[in-house]
Amino acid sequence: METPDKITIRRPDDWHVHLRDGAVLEAVAGHTARAFARAIVMPNLAPPVTTIDDALRYRDHIRAAVGDNATFTPLMTCYLTDEADADEIRRGFDEGVFSAVKLYPAGATTNSAMGVTDMSRVSGVLEMMQDIGMPLLVHGEVTDPEIDIFDREAVYIERVLSPMLSDFAALKVVFEHITTSQAVAFVRAQGPRLGATITAHHLLIDRNDMFKGGIRPHLYCLPIAKRKGHRLALLEAATSGEESFFLGTDSAPHAINLKEAACGCAGVFSAPAALELYAHVFDQAGALDKLEAFASLNGPAFYGLPANEDTVSLVREDWQIPVAVHTAGDADILSFMAGETLSWKLAD
Ligand code: NCD
Ligand code: ZN
Repeated sequence: METPDKITIRRPDDWHVHLRDGAVLEAVAGHTARAFARAIVMPNLAPPVTTIDDALRYRDHIRAAVGDNATFTPLMTCYLTDEADADEIRRGFDEGVFSAVKLYPAGATTNSAMGVTDMSRVSGVLEMMQDIGMPLLVHGEVTDPEIDIFDREAVYIERVLSPMLSDFAALKVVFEHITTSQAVAFVRAQGPRLGATITAHHLLIDRNDMFKGGIRPHLYCLPIAKRKGHRLALLEAATSGEESFFLGTDSAPHAINLKEAACGCAGVFSAPAALELYAHVFDQAGALDKLEAFASLNGPAFYGLPANEDTVSLVREDWQIPVAVHTAGDADILSFMAGETLSWKLAD
């Protein structure tokens, strides 16, 4: 079958993005708002977003950074800590400020030091969320240093996620940025109360790409890219059209000097070409007809929100991914696949 030169889909949303704050937010917000109508904004600022007031203040910053004319809607999340206040979270959800709660196991990733140390500490909050239908978004990696970094997601399923889903049988959960065939199989087995986001970079790279000709710090993220077989399982899931799988870029900007360092930080900045990267991947897989379900329909259905009414078009046209985004701060932020040519472009 010949593939078309233009596709039009409902406007997509990004169900997992890091926008940061201050000069970085100013520099990156427009890249997400350019393609996506809504985005679930991660709360791992320093200090994290834990109260309604924090979220309202942060949402104002995001709206200001995007500009008045844009139709972009940031969906705010609450960072779960051992000391989380169930009443505050419930009120934030009821008032439409918090869309979800984000669970970082303490120490799992960037700015997760304030995260949860033991699931028993947050059982009251999870019970409340289950009662009101508020989604829990999970960074699914164990932090046990004895567990190999490439096994941390699969072990998390056994040790934490599976027991949690049994204990809270009605809790809605998103397994964020999945990277393994075990996660794909687990999500499928759980039915509609468990969703999963899949990033563009985990559909494009495997662990060998991090070491191609030398060490490539800009491909280092958490969860870390796995073997090729896992990438292919993710690709099959994303392009299946199944409702459990939806778009979440996990675009995570870090200044170049913090990536290219003796101990570089985790995060891939994909926002400048995010939707086009997914289109590229889906086209290569012969599955462009499944892009709309993954990017624009499955996420809203999981969150109980309407799909966007307006549409975007992608055209077959070569263009180069912008190399870097300049910030008013000290350092630029390098894009994922900086300077490489993509054959799908978002039409104006
Ligand atoms: C994210 C970040 O930089 O905030 N980094 C990453 O590698 N994905 C945090 C996260 O989502 O794990
Ligand atoms: Zn993330």
